[in-house]
Amino acid sequence: MPEILLLGVIGLAGVALAWWLLVTTEGVYLGRRVVVWLYDLYAHRYDRIKGFDPDDEATFLGRYVFHALEGAPAALVLDVATGTGRLPLLLMEAPAFNGRVWGLDLSRRMLRVAAEKLAPYGQRTRLLWQAAESLPFVDAAFDMVTCLEALEFFTDQRAVLAEIARVLRPGGVLVTTRRLGRDAALMPGKALSEENLAALLGALGLEGVAFYPWQMDYDIVLAQKTGAPSAGKGGVRPLEEALCCPACRAAAFVETAGALRCEACGARYPIAGDGVILLHGGGRRASAGRARHASSSSGGSSSYSSSSHSSSSHSSSSHSSSSHSPSFSP
Ligand SMILES: C[S@@+](CC[C@H](N)C(=O)[O-])C[C@H]1O[C@@H](n2cnc3c(N)ncnc32)[C@H](O)[C@@H]1O
Repeated sequence: MPEILLLGVIGLAGVALAWWLLVTTEGVYLGRRVVVWLYDLYAHRYDRIKGFDPDDEATFLGRYVFHALEGAPAALVLDVATGTGRLPLLLMEAPAFNGRVWGLDLSRRMLRVAAEKLAPYGQRTRLLWQAAESLPFVDAAFDMVTCLEALEFFTDQRAVLAEIARVLRPGGVLVTTRRLGRDAALMPGKALSEENLAALLGALGLEGVAFYPWQMDYDIVLAQKTGAPSAGKGGVRPLEEALCCPACRAAAFVETAGALRCEACGARYPIAGDGVILLHGGGRRASAGRARHASSSSGGSSSYSSSSHSSSSHSSSSHSSSSHSPSFSP
């Protein structure tokens, strides 16, 4: 009898551990591959699970994003961990936004869903399959970088934030989120406190870090890259001017039929049938055959569901700031 009880306790502990590793923390303690595998698994259910509502998005997310973009209607925006294209879609649907937005993610299937939603906007949006820890852009390329509901799922959060700070132009704005609530307490070292996140951003050359209550599970966080914008810099420009080759870091791309080719090292990166640029995995070995394979693999149905994505309910309209150095007041 005691043996059965012991086995039962061990079994329950195993289930609880598996739940915590795969559902609550979405694989982040198991490494990047597991995180991305899980997002690939439930990409086609992601929007339904989140319950995105265009009006709520325009109101509760738009108020921060458009405030940050004031005075720069033709901005170049990078959305890191764009997922199914939530942020690019918000910008494309806003008549006042006349800029461009590029979205980057490591889940190919999340990007495939994003590509379907963003198809009507043509080349005003571009999607890139690439890891956030190594952003394939020249320094100071973007007027704004966004990274929503993703920081806590990066296995190397500091590396991603350092890359974001590098590709923001002086005076450019970061819009990101900080995980809150019960699940945050279950993500030690991943869901950062206000103090720790503000200190990290400060050390990376971002100032005016401000926190605003946003959703039940998240604060929204705004910060500005130090320094004055250089005259004539910023704003929209062709992809080839801002993109640099993951293999040799040169900004020397030419877009040919179905691929980007680096003129400096000869690496070739396929553009899949859905328009996603396949940078991940290295250019030299990339081939047209692989592009076809990547674009034809099915998005698949998924049985994975995460309680942490069960709600995107926004906090009430009292968006008071608890900022460290409030320079934004949307
Ligand atoms: C919770 S989703 C957020 C998606 C979107 N920003 C939103 O608000 O709906 C997190 C995203 O981070 C992506 N991700 C996780 N680790 C990544 C990494 N190292 N590089 C790029 N994307 C990553 C996942 O593939 C997933 O699409």
